[in-house]
Amino acid sequence: MGDTLFATAPRVEFSDCEFYHTMEIPGFGLVEGQWDLRGGVDAYLGGANFAGARVLEIGPASGFLTMEMERRGAEIVAIEVQDDPGWDFVPYPPAILEPMFPARRQIMARVKNSFWFTHTAHHSRAKLLYADAYNIPEIGKFDIALMGSVLLHTRAPLQIIEQCARRADTIIVTDLLHTDIEGTPVCRLWPRADNNITDTWWQLSSTLVSQFLGVLGYTKIETTTHSHQHRHQTLNLFTVVARR
Ligand SMILES: C[S@@+](CC[C@H](N)C(=O)[O-])C[C@H]1O[C@@H](n2cnc3c(N)ncnc32)[C@H](O)[C@@H]1O
Repeated sequence: MGDTLFATAPRVEFSDCEFYHTMEIPGFGLVEGQWDLRGGVDAYLGGANFAGARVLEIGPASGFLTMEMERRGAEIVAIEVQDDPGWDFVPYPPAILEPMFPARRQIMARVKNSFWFTHTAHHSRAKLLYADAYNIPEIGKFDIALMGSVLLHTRAPLQIIEQCARRADTIIVTDLLHTDIEGTPVCRLWPRADNNITDTWWQLSSTLVSQFLGVLGYTKIETTTHSHQHRHQTLNLFTVVARR
């Protein structure tokens, strides 16, 4: 496993960043993002113990959870979308998709920058790999794999869970809670012809996630729910923690 796989931290200015998470950055101060998970980190992460754990994190965005897990004693390898191919967009017709590509590309670059700004400020040792989460390269075994609010954005969420399950003894999946599908092992397509939701695919039930993790051989599976602030509104999420 060569270190060349991992991205080298670029030097990044604050003005080149878009923060996804609200967080306190050492030596800089408070930055505001769309999600404020402060005060609810342990609930979001299912109360898992990160001390001494090697953690695979899919989709760190601005790295708030990366830093929180590292602070709790974890060694992190994070996987983020590559520039090319980029986001797993829903294949609307080009007339809908193409006009928004330039702005999306710019925002993704700025969110990636925010990860490195955070990383530098924390003197973090977390490693980041720009890679395909559907086909994760050989980066060894992990104690924990975290998929925090990422599966809803992917066309084949079960494939990503499976990829993580090949590598980790504990799986943590956090996603938006939709109470009307809870209890049934389903995911519901979010995009419609009339809503132009191009960057999000699924509303997943925690039942789907926990049932599939059972299929993959996990035997101790716990689901919890919690609430966090998103753009100053309260949203409900679930976290499934599955251990072998
Ligand atoms: C909604 S944010 C969640 C950030 C963080 N995990 C959390 O829970 O707060 C989704 C993150 O997953 C990344 N992402 C989206 N699609 C991905 C994919 N196919 N593979 C890897 N990362 C992906 C995004 O770039 C972003 O960093």
